[in-house]
Amino acid sequence: MNSIRGKWALITGTTSGFGKAIADTFAQNGCNIIMVARRAEKLEALEHILKEKYGVQVLSYCFDVRNLNQCIEMANDLSEREIVPDILVNNAGLASGKDKIYEGLIGDWEKMIDTNIKGLLYMTRSILPKMVERNEGHVINIGSIAGHQVYPEGNVYNATKFAVKALNEAMNLDLAGTNIRCCSIDPGAAETEFSMVRFHGDEQKATKVYEGYQPLQAEDIADIVYYVATAPVHVNITNLVVYPTAQRNVYVWDKK
Ligand SMILES: NC(=O)c1ccc[n+]([C@@H]2O[C@H](COP(=O)([O-])OP(=O)(O)OC[C@H]3O[C@@H](n4cnc5c(N)ncnc54)[C@H](OP(=O)(O)O)[C@@H]3O)[C@@H](O)[C@H]2O)c1
Repeated sequence: MNSIRGKWALITGTTSGFGKAIADTFAQNGCNIIMVARRAEKLEALEHILKEKYGVQVLSYCFDVRNLNQCIEMANDLSEREIVPDILVNNAGLASGKDKIYEGLIGDWEKMIDTNIKGLLYMTRSILPKMVERNEGHVINIGSIAGHQVYPEGNVYNATKFAVKALNEAMNLDLAGTNIRCCSIDPGAAETEFSMVRFHGDEQKATKVYEGYQPLQAEDIADIVYYVATAPVHVNITNLVVYPTAQRNVYVWDKK
C-alpha cells in the first residue's frame, strides 16, 4: 500500500458530492488537502471541519476552473509555498440540461464544455508540469459512464465525458517513461447535487432520478478514489467503471 499520509491532494469541486467526500476520506487518512470550488462559504466551512476533525493542513482556493488565469495563479501560489500536489483529482464538473440536441440551450453546452473539458485541461496544465519535474504524482480524473455510452438527450454531456476518457488515455500515453499514473473513475448514477444542477434546480425532476433503487453515494466513490490513490506505485489502475448494483448499463435498470 502507498500511504497518502502527509501528502498533498488537490481536489476540484469539494463543496458537494464526490469532491467533498473524497476530501473527507483523504483527510481522515492524514492527507493534506487543497480544495477548489466556487462557493466560498461552503469551502470555508469544510476547511474548518477538516482541520478540526483530522488535524491536517488545508488550503482553499475559491474560483471557477473555467478561468485559466486563476488556475495559473493557484499553481504559482502553491509553488511559492513549495507545495507540489502528489495527487490531482479532476472532479469539478456538471451536466447542465437534458434536451434533444436540436433544442439544447447553447449556454448549457458552453458550461459543460468549458468546465468538464477545458477546466480539467487548465487544471492539469497548471499542475502536471510540477509532477513531471519531480517524476512523481497521480492524476485521477472523474469521468462517467456517460463517457462510455451515449443516451437520449445526453448529447453534449456525453461528448464531454467521452473527451475525459480520451484525455485520460492521452495523459497516460504522454506520461510513459515517468512514474506518474493516471486513472479515470467512471461512475453510474450517484446521489449528489448532480441532478439538481442538471435540471436547473427543479427538485421534482432531480428526486425522480434516484427513485426506486439504491443509487451510489458520494462516499462509495471516495472509497474507490482512495483505493486507487493508495495502490502501490508500480500499479497503475487506468480506468474503473462503477455502477450501482441496480444499474447494469445506461439502459438496464432494476427499479422497483
Ligand atoms: N452524480 C452522478 O451521478 C455522477 C455520475 C458520473 C460522473 N459524475 C461526475 O462527477 C463529478 C462530480 O459531480 P457530483 O456528482 O459530485 O456533483 P455535485 O454534487 O454537483 O458536485 C460538483 C462539484 O463541482 C464544483 N464545480 C462545478 N463547476 C465548477 C467550476 N466551474 N469551477 C469549480 N468548481 C466547480 C461544485 O462546486 P461549486 O458549485 O461550489 O463551484 C461542486 O463542488 C462531475 O464531474 C460529474 O460529471 C457524476
